[in-house]
Amino acid sequence: MLFQTSETSDKLLYALMSQTIIPRPIAWVLSDNGDASYNIAPFSYFNAVSTSPPVLYISAGKKPGGFKKDTWKNIEERSHFVVHIPSVSDVTAVTETSASLPFGESEAAQFGIALNAESDWPLPRIANVPAAFLCKRFDIIEIGNQAMILGKVVSTYVSDTIATLSEGRLLVDPIGLDPLARLGNSYASLGELLNG
Ligand SMILES: Cc1cc2nc3c(=O)[nH]c(=O)nc-3n(C[C@H](O)[C@H](O)[C@H](O)COP(=O)(O)O)c2cc1C
Repeated sequence: MLFQTSETSDKLLYALMSQTIIPRPIAWVLSDNGDASYNIAPFSYFNAVSTSPPVLYISAGKKPGGFKKDTWKNIEERSHFVVHIPSVSDVTAVTETSASLPFGESEAAQFGIALNAESDWPLPRIANVPAAFLCKRFDIIEIGNQAMILGKVVSTYVSDTIATLSEGRLLVDPIGLDPLARLGNSYASLGELLNG
């Protein structure tokens, strides 16, 4: 099958891309509602962009009424946000936090997600998630109905339980990280590890 974009609906294009560009990592994003509550939502259109400076992106769409998703709105209005790498054990909470709550309602409170205060940072981090990037908005590029939200990584948290640093060489254990991945509408875990 060959799909000409000009003759293919957005729904089909989404199905094509989201089921073939797989597996995708998941960014579990905490952003600031501006009223001392926090929004949490997963985004699988997510990846690293550059290392120097360290920049990552997530791509957020709009809600059915045409309004920007809360994560997009929050990062546009308040620059700090935190991108977590959820583990397979977080799958239920990740799915729950994709529910569209009215703006300003906190997924953290609604779904009982524990947060850890972070020193020298205005936002907390989701507790028990092994890796997180503390980011500041770098840029927001609107592409059609989506926004490519670029975040500059100000600091990175990796749990001591999965990382070792010896003579400047960092090793993160992928099995310990156990990252949750997105495939179409389902999820996957790491499969067999292959030597590069
Ligand atoms: C695993 C997973 C990945 C998702 N990836 C994206 C994504 O890349 N972009 C997007 O706009 N929505 C994505 N969604 C849907 C959002 O999480 C959902 O619309 C959420 O309500 C947005 O929250 P917010 O309005 O609080 O920002 C994903 C949902 C799940 C479960």
